Amino acid sequence: MANPQELLARRVQDGLAAAFGEAFSGTDPLVRPSQHADFQSNVALSLPGQLHRPPREIAAELVRSLQITDMCLPPEVSGPGFINLTLRDDWIARQASEMLGDDRLGTYRAADPQTVVVEYSSPNIAKEMHVGHLRTTIVGDAIARIMDFAGHHVIRDNHVGDWGTQFGMLIEHLLDVGEDSPEAGTLRTDPNRFYQAARAAFDSDPEFAERSRQRVVLLQGGDPVSLRIWHELVALSMDYLHRMYSRLQVSLTDEDIRGESFYNAMLPDVVADLETAGIAVPSEGALCAFPPGFTGRDGSPLPVIIRKSDGGYNYSSTDLATIRYRVDDLGCDRAIYVVGSAQALHFRMVFAVARQAGWIPETTSFEHAQIGNVLGTDGKILRTRSGDSIKLSALLQEGVDRARGILDELEASAQFDEATLASIAEAVGIGAVKYADLSTARDSEYVFDWDRMISFKGNTGPYLQYATARIRSIFRRAGLAPERATGPVVIAEEAERGLALKLLGFGAAVWSAADAAQPHRLCVYLFELASLFTTFYELCPVLKAEDEPVRASRLALCALTLRVLLGGLDLLGVPVPERM
Ligand code: ARG
Repeated sequence: MANPQELLARRVQDGLAAAFGEAFSGTDPLVRPSQHADFQSNVALSLPGQLHRPPREIAAELVRSLQITDMCLPPEVSGPGFINLTLRDDWIARQASEMLGDDRLGTYRAADPQTVVVEYSSPNIAKEMHVGHLRTTIVGDAIARIMDFAGHHVIRDNHVGDWGTQFGMLIEHLLDVGEDSPEAGTLRTDPNRFYQAARAAFDSDPEFAERSRQRVVLLQGGDPVSLRIWHELVALSMDYLHRMYSRLQVSLTDEDIRGESFYNAMLPDVVADLETAGIAVPSEGALCAFPPGFTGRDGSPLPVIIRKSDGGYNYSSTDLATIRYRVDDLGCDRAIYVVGSAQALHFRMVFAVARQAGWIPETTSFEHAQIGNVLGTDGKILRTRSGDSIKLSALLQEGVDRARGILDELEASAQFDEATLASIAEAVGIGAVKYADLSTARDSEYVFDWDRMISFKGNTGPYLQYATARIRSIFRRAGLAPERATGPVVIAEEAERGLALKLLGFGAAVWSAADAAQPHRLCVYLFELASLFTTFYELCPVLKAEDEPVRASRLALCALTLRVLLGGLDLLGVPVPERM
């Protein structure tokens, strides 16, 4: 099953070939949603150059060649040459009935599946993990799920920062406090606190700072004791990460972790190859690449430092090794880096160096899926009132507590026992936080505002969750399982038509989100769907419908809406309680 827009596009293409010759069968038919009809084709406006005729005449001729009467009312030419396309009610009804039997809900699978690396989350171990990492985690997970569903071969990749100079300081601090001490335990619960304590010692105690520097050298030289303690640090922080991921219901596992340390052994080769190719050159004691097209404010070429003057490697060397690994070993066709927008220049430059070196094939796409900042209501990066960075587990707990507060105010909550209420609050609180991260275009900043995101009105997680609970309750009252609503769909009312047509657009919404790696497009779609459902439910009695075929049709529309909402929220990774 394909979606209406695509089917129409194909028909218009056939019409173009019939009217103007085979040469036009590949022309983009420019079919778009329209204000004046369901869709419009703007293709006639793009052809006068080739056909040497005015666009209205081209449109008229194309309309005569369109074989479309089974799908549409007679097409109309309007304005300078738009072709308005209005779908027939019976066609929409038939498609919706067919969708009831389609477990992919009208979403086709990639005909030519790609290997897609989705890199996301990527916190720095034992270092500040902030709300920015929460957003890269949530958005990245949605992108991975959407790509999976679209039929691509997805490789999840958690590029944790588990290597680098800060580990000298962390190892020394762990040795000082004792590996079994309660303080070491904070790595498991609040890694930030451990990091800050180590940092404080480093800043105030020159002897400690010196030991830390020597420890880095030992670690990078492969000293067994240093490596053992480093492993322990990593394991403790992983514990913390796992707990966060499982509470967030994020699909990352241990197998998905390929941290910076993973690439360590590849660095000498990467650097040597860049040197041999003449791409990396000595500059002020360091080894640098100067990818074409990147200049500073004074016009001088900008460097990517490949090896520091002390001989150490850095973040960029690791990223270059990562690129090569993703192409050569993982065989990726597309790599999506879900990382904060502050790193945009870094990625443009390392991608450019890798392309210069010929490491990225022409047809392989490397993309930085930028993530905008999460701001507090004061418009600055979100922090606690005292100015500290926010502990993520406390943030999530606050969401759940607030959700519980709202539920307790609702009369309906009296019907649930304590355990049920707690699990609904968990889903609503976590769902609200996740949906807020997802529903804004990922590269835009947004203001973290509890009252707005946990509201049952507007484009929020709770609103969509509530829509599913409401539909489930219709079926409970009907004494019918949603799967048993088999229609067929018939369309008489405008509200039925609007809802059914929206349902048919699910596949297009999924694909648009997948192609652009923009989960918020799916959010927009689901919100519009839920709003149309609300209108439908206000205007069209379901259980009290006068005749049986109307009742069966409306129940089928309810069932489809439920399935699309659940399917969509699942692709976004937003949990849904059965009742609320
Ligand atoms: N660990 C980094 C940070 O927290 C993000 C890693 C981004 N990914 C990459 N391939 N460089 O800033």
